[in-house]
Amino acid sequence: MKVLVTGANGFIGNYVCEQLVKAGLTVMATGKGDCRLLLKSNPLFSYRSMDFTNPFEVDLVFEDFKPGCVVHAGANGRPDVCEQNQMQAYINNVEGTVTLLTNAAAHQSFFLFISTDFVFDGNAGPYAEDDPTNPVNYYGRTKLEAEEAVRDYEHDWAIVRTVLVFGKPQTGRENILTLVQKSLLAGQEIKIFDDQYRTPTYVEDLAAAIVSIIQKKATGTWHISGNEMVTPYQLSVMAARYLNLDESLICKIYSGDLAEAAKRPHRTGFIIEKAVKHLGYKPLTLEEGLKKTFSGVV
Ligand SMILES: NC(=O)c1ccc[n+]([C@@H]2O[C@H](COP(=O)([O-])OP(=O)(O)OC[C@H]3O[C@@H](n4cnc5c(N)ncnc54)[C@H](OP(=O)(O)O)[C@@H]3O)[C@@H](O)[C@H]2O)c1
Repeated sequence: MKVLVTGANGFIGNYVCEQLVKAGLTVMATGKGDCRLLLKSNPLFSYRSMDFTNPFEVDLVFEDFKPGCVVHAGANGRPDVCEQNQMQAYINNVEGTVTLLTNAAAHQSFFLFISTDFVFDGNAGPYAEDDPTNPVNYYGRTKLEAEEAVRDYEHDWAIVRTVLVFGKPQTGRENILTLVQKSLLAGQEIKIFDDQYRTPTYVEDLAAAIVSIIQKKATGTWHISGNEMVTPYQLSVMAARYLNLDESLICKIYSGDLAEAAKRPHRTGFIIEKAVKHLGYKPLTLEEGLKKTFSGVV
């Protein structure tokens, strides 16, 4: 099958492309500007520059590649940036998704959308797939609106929601653990929230679940995350201990201590029973995920 991936230069997109190719699928990675993936020379892999908010570029790429499946991993995923630039966030996260859905429909592609725990308000986590949504910030609202567009898609679709993804950044953006590692190695203090509860997700578990959903054509909404509820502070301390770095440099902070533009949900995290039962999903423990994240780094 031919799979088109958006946001392929990003943290999650990178891993998804890698695992799709490993599974023997033909991948067209797309992103803004030049290819930043490490996979360039694989015969199953090609790259095209495509801004998914540009309908002309999207149409050209879809007409050339004719994807059997689209993995929409691209987004503006920074809550504070979305809160402060709402029009841009809407254009990217909602209108961009609609443009991709319109083009996917012309090829009857299976459409897989990556979404977030931020569609929930965080008053009743951990959440199952059917629990009521109620985003507390603009990023969450755009992702929920995009989910609604995906649910209206006339062909097969899947929505894969995930939570606080960590792992080695490859060429994508930094994540919480790599930021903590950098600060501690430099002997600098870092402030981390201790009143936001999440079930962090190891990035390769997420990518494997996405490949499995595509291979099984498993339609509907899926919660894919780790299985342990921790605060970002607790996760950071685990990382410091694993790396044998000075955990006293990690300072606990609480909501309201930082002037953040976007409100964060208090307690999200996922119930992953559906994925365990129907996909055979078995995430790594946090300890195992940390080991993989930092292997070869220290
Ligand atoms: N990381 C997490 O903890 C997490 C948690 C829950 C859900 N998610 C979801 O997972 C998905 C991927 O997140 P990520 O962590 O991999 O984020 P990321 O590293 O920021 O990757 C997103 C990618 O999308 C690209 N992009 C943005 N707008 C685009 C456009 N108009 N046209 C083409 N490419 C565009 C970005 O390009 P540039 O690199 O050129 O800016 C970036 O490479 C997002 O949908 C996010 O909402 C992530």
